[in-house]
Amino acid sequence: MDKKNRYLNALNTADKILHDYKIDEIGKMSFISSILMNEFQEWIFCGFYRTVKKELLQIGPYQGKIVPCGHIAFNRGVCGASATKRKTIIVNDVSTFPGYISCDSETISEIVIPVIKNDKLLAVLDIDGDTKSQFDSTDQSYLEKIALLI
Ligand code: SME
Repeated sequence: MDKKNRYLNALNTADKILHDYKIDEIGKMSFISSILMNEFQEWIFCGFYRTVKKELLQIGPYQGKIVPCGHIAFNRGVCGASATKRKTIIVNDVSTFPGYISCDSETISEIVIPVIKNDKLLAVLDIDGDTKSQFDSTDQSYLEKIALLI
């Protein structure tokens, strides 16, 4: 199945589960990380870093084959850059990203999407892949839609 259809499956499932269901944001992030990882089993990591205090992210619900780092300051890594700019960041080759935080030796590319609600940066959604340029504008557009479900 192509990437677009896999995202449509994930979006449908997430929409069904989260629509009209009273669950807090951490619960929603748990469902979303699990739904995405089930659809994209080749990913190394798919998870949320939540804003827990000023300019600090902390690991939230995630799925993956690695143990991620617990905290990321806004001035560090791809996650911090996405949190600061409030923009999606796609990194085709993590070895070229200044200040990249490495949690494992397999990750080659990465996409980070900000999760914004009522103008507040709740979290970032971080996804790691083992192939160069694994993420593109298709990933960005569907993941940004999924982030709006939180
Ligand atoms: N690589 C990320 C850190 C988190 S891990 O990939 C799970 C970064 O540079 O922000």
